[in-house]
Amino acid sequence: MVTSRIHVLDEATIAQIAAGEVIERPVSVVKELVENSLDASARHITVELMGGGRSAIAVTDDGVGIPRDDLPLAFARHATSKLDSVGDLFAISSLGFRGEGLASIAAAGDVELTSRTRASEFGYRVEARGTQVGTAAAVAASVGTKVVVRELFSRTPARRAFLKSERSEFARVSAFTSQIALGWPSVGFTLRHDGRDVWSLPAVKDPVDRLETVFGRAARGALVPLVTAAERVRERVSGYVCKPGHDRPNRNAQVFFVNGRIVRSAALSAAWLAGYGSFGMTGRYPFGVIAVSLPPEDVDVNVHPTKIEVRLAHPQHVFEAVRRAVAATQSATERARPLPAAALHAGASGDERSDNSALHAEAGEAQLSFAPDAQTRDMRVFGQIDRTFIVAGDGNELVLIDQHAAHERIAYEAIAANDGRRDVSEPALFPAVVELTPEQIVALHAYEGELADAGVIVEPFGEATYRIVALPLGYEKRRFDLPRLLDDLSADDAPREGVAHQKRVWASIACHSVVRAGEPLSLQQQSALYERLLRCRDPQTCPHGRPTMLRLDATALAKAFKRA
Ligand SMILES: Nc1ncnc2c1ncn2[C@@H]1O[C@H](COP(=O)(O)OP(=O)(O)OP(=O)(O)O)[C@@H](O)[C@H]1O
Ligand SMILES: [Mg+2]
Repeated sequence: MVTSRIHVLDEATIAQIAAGEVIERPVSVVKELVENSLDASARHITVELMGGGRSAIAVTDDGVGIPRDDLPLAFARHATSKLDSVGDLFAISSLGFRGEGLASIAAAGDVELTSRTRASEFGYRVEARGTQVGTAAAVAASVGTKVVVRELFSRTPARRAFLKSERSEFARVSAFTSQIALGWPSVGFTLRHDGRDVWSLPAVKDPVDRLETVFGRAARGALVPLVTAAERVRERVSGYVCKPGHDRPNRNAQVFFVNGRIVRSAALSAAWLAGYGSFGMTGRYPFGVIAVSLPPEDVDVNVHPTKIEVRLAHPQHVFEAVRRAVAATQSATERARPLPAAALHAGASGDERSDNSALHAEAGEAQLSFAPDAQTRDMRVFGQIDRTFIVAGDGNELVLIDQHAAHERIAYEAIAANDGRRDVSEPALFPAVVELTPEQIVALHAYEGELADAGVIVEPFGEATYRIVALPLGYEKRRFDLPRLLDDLSADDAPREGVAHQKRVWASIACHSVVRAGEPLSLQQQSALYERLLRCRDPQTCPHGRPTMLRLDATALAKAFKRA
């Protein structure tokens, strides 16, 4: 029911409403502040959170700083140094332009801003809270700007209640910061949480080095530079995209920049997939980073409150440019890929031969056994198809086994049976050391407890490197793929509690510790796998519920051959 007359809202309410669109959660504050630091030509930016950003968020840069006289204006709405007139609005080259970032942050929390320009001997500090801005006081400070935000949303409890766990808010900040870092390789970034350094990206000349830090060392082989057509002048496309076969289960690792601005774009994502063409698999997405640069007048950045979406003057041209670049890159990598030598003489290696003789001995023995029953059938293994499926049989039926799914089932039941017992590695001369991306490190911290319960113990070993100290009993270190496991876990957004959650974690550990599809196996390994599968409590499906084997008995064969 509307009872009062139309009136103009007061300043504080207007500010609150405007801020509501811009500052939704801690990562929104970080985005505004980091963009300001980049606009200020910072060489290094440190982002620090306390309690997932609820208690405090601080962003420190070594950029140009704000002159003392401008300080009170920094918090005023529609006050900016980046735009002079409406004409500029259609040719924006800075990340900020509205003069709303700091005002919105002050509406959402208590802000303390300290800044010093190179020309000034001192720094100056102002505090802002809501629409109240204090006076600037001289303080000792180094050149640059530091903004600290405390008590986020304490004046808007509804929004505060909407925040997720500390871990999850922090993970968003980590994801955003490492992704924007991709587009700014010459700027160093450090991320800290609750007083400790979580990751640090030094400034680099070659964007490739930054890529490795963000996507992981494994990405070195997986990512290739985009082949770009030189003739297109208006829309320049560059970046790194993964080769076919390295796709991921979601779009989280697709990063887009338009003129240095990180954007979300279903259209660009679709163009990427279109360029992939037949290389793509349904439900899988290529990963990497694609940066589009356009004349500023071709991009309208003023269409979304957090500037995460942009409107393009010629979307079709951009779509085509991206699609073509991706397609050209894919066909270039396909051509460059040598035929796998092993595929040319399958089964001819020394190992395989000795395994063949093992089969003959075994088969000879098996033929002697009478009265096969369910337990002691004279099962035989005949070999692999496409290095993915094992062909086996027992005189009554032909059995096709998915080697990965089967091994997953075996590994999963091993964890379930072990109850956290683990193979602790000796302090090895060459410990299994892996390098993790910022994302993966965040997932590792988040899942430390669950992993330890299952028998997986990982320790820090150096900056961004970790050592695998222990694995569940019966697991092989050589097969254990910690980075992919962590990718999987961080993509899991189902509730993180209860038995179902524990089972998902176990299934992920199993999945990334076992034989893959496409891996050659000796006949001995194939039989061992089949035997161990049959000994499982639930041999028919993998922990994700996919079948591990297909059986064809004489009736089914007769039908297929039209005998029946
Ligand atoms: N880290 C910083 N270093 C130097 N100057 C800064 C920094 N942060 C803010 N400023 C100054 O304060 C002004 C206001 O910042 P604010 O983020 O509110 O607006 P903006 O960046 O201009 O536009 P937008 O609202 O789109 O972010 C900027 O225009 C800039 O002059
Ligand atoms: Mg700004």
